[in-house]
Amino acid sequence: MIELKHALWELEKVSDAAQLENFFQIYLGKKWLLNEEFKLLVALSPEDKKDKGAKLSDLKTQLTAAYEQKQNHFMMGQINQQLEKDPVDISLDIAREEWSYSLLAEVRRDAEDICKSMWFIIEYGTDVVTKFENFESVNIPLTHPATEMHDTIYLNDKDASGENLILRTHTSSMQNFLIKKYGLPLKAVVPGRTYRFENMDASHDTMFYQMEWIVIDKDISVAHFKEMITKLLSALLHKNVETRMRPGYFPFVEPGFEIDVRYEVYNKETEKKELSNWMEILGAGMIHPNVLKEAGVDSTQRSGFAFGVGISRLAAVRYGIKDIRYFTNGDLRFAKSFA
Ligand code: DAH
Repeated sequence: MIELKHALWELEKVSDAAQLENFFQIYLGKKWLLNEEFKLLVALSPEDKKDKGAKLSDLKTQLTAAYEQKQNHFMMGQINQQLEKDPVDISLDIAREEWSYSLLAEVRRDAEDICKSMWFIIEYGTDVVTKFENFESVNIPLTHPATEMHDTIYLNDKDASGENLILRTHTSSMQNFLIKKYGLPLKAVVPGRTYRFENMDASHDTMFYQMEWIVIDKDISVAHFKEMITKLLSALLHKNVETRMRPGYFPFVEPGFEIDVRYEVYNKETEKKELSNWMEILGAGMIHPNVLKEAGVDSTQRSGFAFGVGISRLAAVRYGIKDIRYFTNGDLRFAKSFA
């Protein structure tokens, strides 16, 4: 009969998965040692059969347990190796119905789908940019008070000209790059993270998601913009919205606008539909000639509009959320209530 001690000693020597498989075949596999011994039981007397049968079962249990322990050991080794190569934890098993996109991703993806259907280019750009990209290329001289509005976060790393790199304060920082990369006519959007050194409160965060839209061609006018923004906001907010344009100041546009929206709401007290208050939703304008010039475009021949919208602002209006910190603080109770 197989000796447990000997088999365990053999198992001890096993040092990789192939050898372990070999061990399994020899001792525990259908055609091999242990099974052969079980077959021999048939020829024994009833007492011997009982006695030897019990011993064999015991042996099989112990050997199987030792084998499984070793197998686990190898598996953990493999997972750890994999994790060292690729830090994503592949062992976390999340049931499919337990996940859903965050509300910000939901709104961004909707916006991207609309853009794709209108043949817009989608570019994400990088979070780290030069001061030129973030400010000067969009007509904000570094001495301009607008740079203070943006309270920039500086990095220690420097760009080719020795200037400190920064975290982009707005996705408008991609305008110059997009015009140069794709030429004209241009229809592009930039969804992405932006950063400002802010005190956090219900409507401000140091990191937030924006989406910049830019359209440049021959004879693009404010009328094109107004038509597009009204349709777009209705689609994104899941409401039939009315838009209002007020003059607004942004160095990269002339004229510049603040866009407000209002829509029908149901008043529970009067049990009637009524119009909501006007709500400021985004900044926009006709692209400033200096921005076009800086990107090598003749501003007497071409014109365009651009606007930038906070994705959390859109999501807050769409889902009726009062505090934008809920979107990113990872509170599962919040996430699950919209899943
Ligand atoms: N970049 C502005 C911000 O972050 C938003 C913005 C305003 C973008 C007007 C535009 C624009 O393209 O025309 O506050």
